[in-house]
Amino acid sequence: MGRTLILTDDLGRGDRLVRSLGGGPSLVLHDLYGDAEPPSGSTLVISDVSALTSEAVLRLRRALAVARGGSTPFLALIHGNLGRGEIQATALGATRILPASTAIAMLLNAVAALGATDDPTSVGIGSLRQCAQEARAKFTVIFRGDKAPAPTIVDSGTAIVNRAIRESKVRDWLNVVASFDDQTHRHCLTVAGLAAAFARTLGLNDADSHHLTRGALLHDIGKARVPITILNKPAPLTPEERVAMDRHPAIGHAMLLDGGYDALTLAVVRSHHEYLDGTGYPDGLRAAEIPDLVRLTTICDIFAALIESRPYKAAKPAREAYAILERMGTKLDPDLVRAFGRVAIACEPPPYRASA
Ligand SMILES: [Fe+2]
Ligand SMILES: [Fe+2]
Repeated sequence: MGRTLILTDDLGRGDRLVRSLGGGPSLVLHDLYGDAEPPSGSTLVISDVSALTSEAVLRLRRALAVARGGSTPFLALIHGNLGRGEIQATALGATRILPASTAIAMLLNAVAALGATDDPTSVGIGSLRQCAQEARAKFTVIFRGDKAPAPTIVDSGTAIVNRAIRESKVRDWLNVVASFDDQTHRHCLTVAGLAAAFARTLGLNDADSHHLTRGALLHDIGKARVPITILNKPAPLTPEERVAMDRHPAIGHAMLLDGGYDALTLAVVRSHHEYLDGTGYPDGLRAAEIPDLVRLTTICDIFAALIESRPYKAAKPAREAYAILERMGTKLDPDLVRAFGRVAIACEPPPYRASA
């Protein structure tokens, strides 16, 4: 995973920026007014300097000369007067210039676009494991269950998953996530990884890709309030337990309703078990009532459940799981199922071990 270097004149603000971008060891903060030189070899450099005084510009120029090898992309965040800041940033060789007040989703998109490595298969499994651990740590906070998670935490977790899928192979992500001991962590990070890969296959723009992956990460949030004995039962559920389990979409929706989430994300959480033919739950919605974002998540969710191993069932190979999706006929959107075929193939060979 490439390293992103952030040059700042305020470590507190810089720290908040690091957290907004997902945190983790691949994001390195450097004090522009400190004594040390910045490290070289980053894949992206970001400057977040509030006052571009002549002293600051001089320090930035020196720091960039050390930090930017060859054509390393440089994103300049501008505080205050945008016109003046743009002139200064351009003179410093900025690849992209954005106001510092840019919405976090837009900033994540810009960072994603600029920070992509040339060789998408170059990420080592060790780095990917680290990345998955970071995403899991975020998910642990998201899944606490007492109240709606802060959207910024969910955005951070989403950014990590998207970065991992962009810089590695989806099957490697699935393999790493499969080693996690908690079934719900495994499942939600698997669905999110599949959603991120699906977004890339469909050519979605960064904002839509973030939206889809974020919904996938959150889709089963309602399970946080399902009794753990039901959630982790090492056998098929009884009819009564199934009723309790099937409440999770409505529970999740109620949890997030006043949490600052948009209508489509709420729809993903409430309606990801709905089918186009009206046989799903909890509301028995039909085709036109089910938005595309929900349809996409449902396909990833079903596929994930099929390729995951559970204590009472073996994982199905990706090819077999995809054949089951195809046989679901009018329940799923046939065009989207067809498009998902490329993701399914990318999951081969079967990523999951026979037992968990
Ligand atoms: Fe679910
Ligand atoms: Fe699910």
